[in-house]
Amino acid sequence: MVVCPGEQDRRSGKRAIHQFTSQVVGNVPVTSSVRRLDLLLPPSASFEILPGQFFMIRTGMTLWPLLRRPFSILSSDPPGHGKKRRVSILFRVVGQGTRLMAEWQRGQSVDMIGPLGRGYTLPESSGTVLMLAGGLGIASLFGLAESILLKQGAPLVWVCIGGKTGEEILMKSELEEMGAEVEVTTEDGSMGMHGLLTQWLERLDTQMRMAALTKSPGLAVYACGPFEMLARVAAITRMLPLPCQVSLEARMACGVGACLGCAVKTRQRGYQMVCKAGPVFDAREIDWEATCRLF
Ligand SMILES: Cc1cc2nc3c(=O)[nH]c(=O)nc-3n(C[C@H](O)[C@H](O)[C@H](O)COP(=O)(O)OP(=O)(O)OC[C@H]3O[C@@H](n4cnc5c(N)ncnc54)[C@H](O)[C@@H]3O)c2cc1C
Ligand code: FES
Repeated sequence: MVVCPGEQDRRSGKRAIHQFTSQVVGNVPVTSSVRRLDLLLPPSASFEILPGQFFMIRTGMTLWPLLRRPFSILSSDPPGHGKKRRVSILFRVVGQGTRLMAEWQRGQSVDMIGPLGRGYTLPESSGTVLMLAGGLGIASLFGLAESILLKQGAPLVWVCIGGKTGEEILMKSELEEMGAEVEVTTEDGSMGMHGLLTQWLERLDTQMRMAALTKSPGLAVYACGPFEMLARVAAITRMLPLPCQVSLEARMACGVGACLGCAVKTRQRGYQMVCKAGPVFDAREIDWEATCRLF
């Protein structure tokens, strides 16, 4: 495993960027376009993985695709202490990189960097948690739900998953088995509420539930999905008002803050790199109008 000190690491001496080779132990279809990839990390990979962080994965050994691709960490074993440790991701096949990943067989070696970025700030242990996942946004939020429910034991983790069709609703039963309360919205009405996740959030009864929730101590809202959805979630939670953390899936080239390709505009701190300052941000921090124009 190669450990490269990053800019911040040279100053603090605390964090490092890990490059390592993992091994595929599972690569199975979950839907017609989404697969679950299970990887075994080498025994030396004893670093902490925080919910909301991501890996940059090299998808091919030839020049194209040149750049690694970013993927949220769906779930991970705790640090292995000398043992190989399993991590999983969910990926949608959309282009050349993910097409190559779909062909990976058991035993395939995978060149990776990570875990990268700032993850979610965990809620207070007694607080109620609302998670809003647009489609594959659940890949980022699932590890957070797992952390809160299995390790922290929050009283209520309430997850709303929105998709175009029922086929896009992922990890529902796994979340329910862990003890989460799960709601579903689909644009074609084939599962759960007919409409958009943001419409669910806007509904009066939801707002009444939200009003009740705001009285619960340490309430936290977390969201991951398309930019337009996150912008709307940010506007609604700001109005209620509720604290909200969002994970942004910007296009990334380097993943480590070097290429400046993933910049988003913030209200107070100018442009920030999603790969380094994020991908998780306080929803109030983002200049949504400027950011939606960028992506
Ligand atoms: C922090 C982060 C976490 C992510 N987590 C996941 C995940 O858990 N699962 C998953 O399937 N995908 C995730 N993505 C998106 C994933 O990185 C892209 O789908 C992947 O890079 C596409 O690679 P490709 O070579 O197959 O497609 P490309 O040939 O690069 O692109 C194919 C198509 O996908 C679009 N695309 C590429 N990247 C993105 C992006 N970031 N957002 C929206 N559209 C994109 C392109 O515009 C193009 O239309 C994440 C992205 C980020 C930044
Ligand atoms: S991807 Fe290069 S700076 Fe973020």
